[in-house]
Amino acid sequence: MLARHLSRRWYSTAIEQKRIQALSGGGKARLDMQHRKCKFSARERLSILLDDGSFREYDTFVEHNCHDFDMETKRYPGDGVVTGHGKIHGRPVFVYSQDFTVLGGSLSKTNAAKIVKIMQKAMAVKAPVIGLNDSGGARIQEGVDSLAGYADIFQHNVMASGVIPQLSMIMGPCAGGAVYSPALTDFTLMVRDTSYMFVTGPDVVKQVTNEDVTQEDLGGAHTHTTMSGVAHRAYDNDMEALAGLRELLSYLPLHNQDPVPVLPCDDPIDREDIVLDTMVPKDPSVAYDMKEVIDRIVDRHSFYELAPTYAPNILIGFGRLGGRSVGIVGNQPLVSSGALDIQASVKAARFIRFCDAFGIPLVSLVDVPGFMPGTTQEHGGIIRHGAKLLYAYAEATVPKLTVITRKAYGGAYIVMSSKHLRGDFNVAWPSAEIAVMGSAGAAEIIFRNHPDKNKMEEEYRTKFATPLVAASRGYLDEIVEPRMTRRLLIEQLDLLKTKSLTNPWKKHGSIPL
Ligand code: HXC
Repeated sequence: MLARHLSRRWYSTAIEQKRIQALSGGGKARLDMQHRKCKFSARERLSILLDDGSFREYDTFVEHNCHDFDMETKRYPGDGVVTGHGKIHGRPVFVYSQDFTVLGGSLSKTNAAKIVKIMQKAMAVKAPVIGLNDSGGARIQEGVDSLAGYADIFQHNVMASGVIPQLSMIMGPCAGGAVYSPALTDFTLMVRDTSYMFVTGPDVVKQVTNEDVTQEDLGGAHTHTTMSGVAHRAYDNDMEALAGLRELLSYLPLHNQDPVPVLPCDDPIDREDIVLDTMVPKDPSVAYDMKEVIDRIVDRHSFYELAPTYAPNILIGFGRLGGRSVGIVGNQPLVSSGALDIQASVKAARFIRFCDAFGIPLVSLVDVPGFMPGTTQEHGGIIRHGAKLLYAYAEATVPKLTVITRKAYGGAYIVMSSKHLRGDFNVAWPSAEIAVMGSAGAAEIIFRNHPDKNKMEEEYRTKFATPLVAASRGYLDEIVEPRMTRRLLIEQLDLLKTKSLTNPWKKHGSIPL
């Protein structure tokens, strides 16, 4: 009896020791180093991200199987990644958090298997997966086994795409092929100054192209949120980044058949904003801020903008109307008059496809003079890239609500969620102008040799610088007072809750990539 008792105590002591070791990651010295770099540890990050006390860990005791290069002496329970599930705002999420204090958070075969396990569980119960990335990449000692581990993760990323939301937070290094897991996920957020992403680091760049570049310039948060468009948002530190991640998740359903979240809303659904009536300047060449228009329409303080500093001529982000999540796309007249270029088209197209995959209604605010002209755009493939936006809107079966505030010209009029692309609710403010092109450009072509070109231009303007022609054809459902926009959109969203529309069966479409 005593022997059995003693042996049980012996076992539990051994388990506790292992658990303590797992909890301490790579040890105090490395943890202090992490803190000196203004970074939290893998576990600290999870405790900030998840609702208090909700984290349940898997595979705490898993260790790597590598015997080469002295790896027998470098065994850490958990093997450099903390995985499990928890809750955010009371809803389930699966998480992994790479532990840089253990072998630089490098990815071993075992460590990858832990990540794949939670991805599989997330798919089984249909809940989002969040990855907190802080890793030196493939565990060099393991060679091809580590690469196999990455491949497993990539394959699962692709299978989960469009089924459950996948979110990546970059909180340290993310280099080499490792960048492709975040790139396959729906949203990538970064922390300024402490995170970077690149396929090849500065040393290889120097060797191959003879360019001198710092890690920050090559793949820091500024680069990816302004130039490459790889990341959707950047935050100043770990704490703000994790709070931002919680905020982003609050707009998303748990999976592609889950209804969109509807949160309690204290902003009256019939609130009329009279400022909207005078938002659009009389002079068509004077700009105004579409972000302000959005802020005045959606529930107060609910606009969560994505990629605010990349292709700012188009705005994308989530908002709420009457508490219900919507995806918002808006042309921004303040930048390049809101014209659609390559970057804007791709930025909006991807967002629209995410919203459509997850049943999030789309609200489009249109003031678009057309596609951006010029050799840079044509040679860069604006035809191919612009087609992505057209494809995304045309393919989407979620409720599509469109408000034309001012210009809607030419192909861009059609592309921007027009009635012709199965728009559910297409309205215009009285200031709208719907035409093949602006009157000056039109006059230049069709009245080129007319003795009174100015008069003819004015005539063209009077005819088309109005929403009346489009409304008379039924291409608009109504011309509405701007102040009524919020109320009307909320009414329509409520009506369209039961909308059912499916596309013809296909293995998948062939979007012009
Ligand atoms: C094994 C690694 C490691 C790795 C870091 N460590 N990266 N161990 N495999 N990939 C270990 C270090 O040996 C060190 O161990 C500890 O982590 C901390 O690393 P430091 O170098 O001291 O940290 P720091 O100075 O902050 O530099 C971080 C770093 C650097 C820039 C990430 O460690 C680095 O360059 N690592 C290698 C990056 C790399 O080339 N990875 C492979 C990329 S290719 P000790 O015991 O000393 O604390 C790739 C292919 C993926 O990932 C393909 C997928 C398809």
